[in-house]
Parts: sequence; structure tokens; C-alpha cells
Amino acid sequence: MKRTIKDLVGLKGKVVLLRVDFNVPIDENGRIADATRIVQAIPTIKYLIKQKAKVVILSHLGRPKGYDVHKSLWPTALYLKNRLPCSVSFCNSLFDDEAKYRISLLKEGNVLVLENTRFYEGEETNDMAFSKKLASLGDIYVNDAFATAHRENASTFGVARILPNAIGLLMEKELNALGPILNNPKRPFVAVIGGVKVSSKLKILKSVLEKADTLIIGGAMAYTFLKAKGQTVGESLVEEDMVDDALEILQGAEGAGKKILLPIDHICVDNADRKKEAIQSKVLRGTLMGLDIGPATTKLYVNEIAKAKQIFWNGPMGKFEDIRFANGTYDVGKAIGDSKGYSVIGGGDTVAAVHHFDLEKGINYISTGGGATMEFIERGSLPCVEVIQEKII
Ligand code: 3PG
Repeated sequence: MKRTIKDLVGLKGKVVLLRVDFNVPIDENGRIADATRIVQAIPTIKYLIKQKAKVVILSHLGRPKGYDVHKSLWPTALYLKNRLPCSVSFCNSLFDDEAKYRISLLKEGNVLVLENTRFYEGEETNDMAFSKKLASLGDIYVNDAFATAHRENASTFGVARILPNAIGLLMEKELNALGPILNNPKRPFVAVIGGVKVSSKLKILKSVLEKADTLIIGGAMAYTFLKAKGQTVGESLVEEDMVDDALEILQGAEGAGKKILLPIDHICVDNADRKKEAIQSKVLRGTLMGLDIGPATTKLYVNEIAKAKQIFWNGPMGKFEDIRFANGTYDVGKAIGDSKGYSVIGGGDTVAAVHHFDLEKGINYISTGGGATMEFIERGSLPCVEVIQEKII
């Protein structure tokens, strides 16, 4: 078990470098479009404030190439200002004299947000000199950035190797929610995996299948599986170079006595039809292109979900952003929320779908991670968690 902030004693007056994931969508007016990740980091910040630590926040935002005003962390500092019972300031740099000066002025129980770590070379290469510079800013390092814990960057990994360290409350919550999915699944365990590409989900499909009793497949990736089974898929999206992998997964599941459910009907368009009206079809022939699961498939999937004691969902069932192809994702998401089983959702597009359809109610845990959640499910660990010291028991 990793050391958490609750295991740290004597935080009063210490400069705590708190790495969070404030990689949130910001609109063209500089407004935060979805503050979930910031809201989720607040308990850790409040805990540190209460302990009278001097809290220095580090995060990345986006994938800037050097300084980019649109990727500044300033809006996130502003957001915190109104939600914390202390003074919150912002410094538009990381290491220069001003940053050091502001840290030296920081009072106990107050917060300073530093500028985007990715504005600097050395962050993403996990450069040692960069990590040392970061470490020189504080006394203790706390990592609460679960969503970035798969990236071995200087501010998520390098600095943890230099300073005394611990994980934050969000990181702990994520690990506690996701860990049992793999280590101690309640059965029947149903995994629902969707999305566009088999290639980007191959590892997760394999690792989830090892643990789950039933694997439900939806989204465009289902057509690669249907093709592997020898079915016609019309003009639906197929990754030809993944057909053999899909077949291997299907055969492996059969050998292991596991169930894989694939769509039995579809909502599609006829590419020959210029109006592209949505039609329902059991078979996909000729110029038909599947874009969502059909009602018979939905019924099949919903029934299976209702029987589950544990559910993990990653990936939409169709092109849900288009109202014509939204039903499958909505109905499956609703069934997961209605289920009595323990439900966990992870992955950027899946969480977006849950928010889009207001499906949060009834879902036991919604992970803040995208790639990190996937990697955790695939490998059972994350490098930036591994680097944190163990709890002394
Ligand atoms: C995420 O949104 O998945 C994390 O913040 C990591 O971002 P990245 O994929 O740009 O490294």
C-alpha cells in the first residue's frame, strides 16, 4: 500500500508540491467547460490547507509546444479562488526568481498555482536536471494526478524520486475503486467495451477478458469482430489488419468458457443514399454502414448487464454525438446505472458520454482518468504510483 497524505506528519509550514491533473477543457473565452478534475482534487488541497501546509500546485494542461496563452493554468487558479477557504495566487512561471519569491511569501494554509509544466522542455522527457529544479521548490511531493500517472514526466515521476512523497486522496480513491475490479471481481463480472478501434483497445480487451465472465462489444470495433466471424459488414469501419487478433480473442474466449456478445442488429446508413437517413437492419450488406447497435442488441446487452454483480464500461456503443446513433450508448449507460452490480466507468469518451446523457446517477465510480485508467486496467499498476514510497505499517 502506498503512503498517503494522511500518513504524513508535521506538514505545518512545509512547502508541499502537489501534482494534480488540471488538464480540463477550456473554451475560447477562457472558461472551464468541465471542472470535474479540479473538483475531484479539492479534498486533497483542503486537507493540506487544514494541516497548514504551504500548497504549491503543479499540473499540465493540453499538449503545448512551448508557451501558449490558451494553455495557461490561470483559469484553474481562478476557479480554485472561489472554492477554497484561503488565498489562492497564480504565478505565470515555474522556476524563475518570481516563482521562488512567491513561494517564499506563501503563508501557511495558502495555495499558489504555478504555470503549465508542459511549457518547459524537460517535463515530458523526464529530464533529471528539470526534476531537480522542481524538487528544489518544495519540501514534500504529493501526487494526486491519477489521470497522468501513466506518464513518466518530470513533475509526475522524476521529482517523486527526489523528495519525500505520498499520494493524494483522489489518487487513493481511484486506486481503491479500480483495484478490486481486477484483483477481486464480484461475479458475474460483465465488461462492456466499445469505441472505434480494436487496435487501440487490444490490450484492454485481452486483460479484461482474463478477469470478466462476459465481454460485451459495441461501437465501430464490433464490425472487425463480426468480420472475423465471417459475417458481412457492408461498408462499416473494419480494421483489416486486426481481424486475426479479433478472431484470436473470440477463439480464446470460447476456449476459456467465457461469453462474448456482439451486435445482432444495427442502426446504419446506406452510403448510396445521399440523405443518409438512419435505418435499422439485421444484416449489413452492400453499402450499409453500421453506426450504432440496434434494438435487439440493446435488449440482449441490457439483460446481461442486469445480471451482473460487477460492471466495467469503457467505450461508447455507437456514434453517440449524433442523435440518430445515440440510443445504444444511452440505453447501455442507463442499464449500467440501474444495475445493482458495482459499476465502474473509465476513459475520456465514455465519461463524456455519461455526462452528455446525464447518466451519472446509479454509477458507483466514474474515474477521472482516460489513458491512465486504461493502462491501470491493462497492467494493474501505473509507473507514477509505483515510484511513491510504501506505507510503513
Ligand atoms: C489525460 O487527459 O488523459 C491526461 O491529462 C494525460 O494527458 P496526455 O494524454 O496529454 O498526456
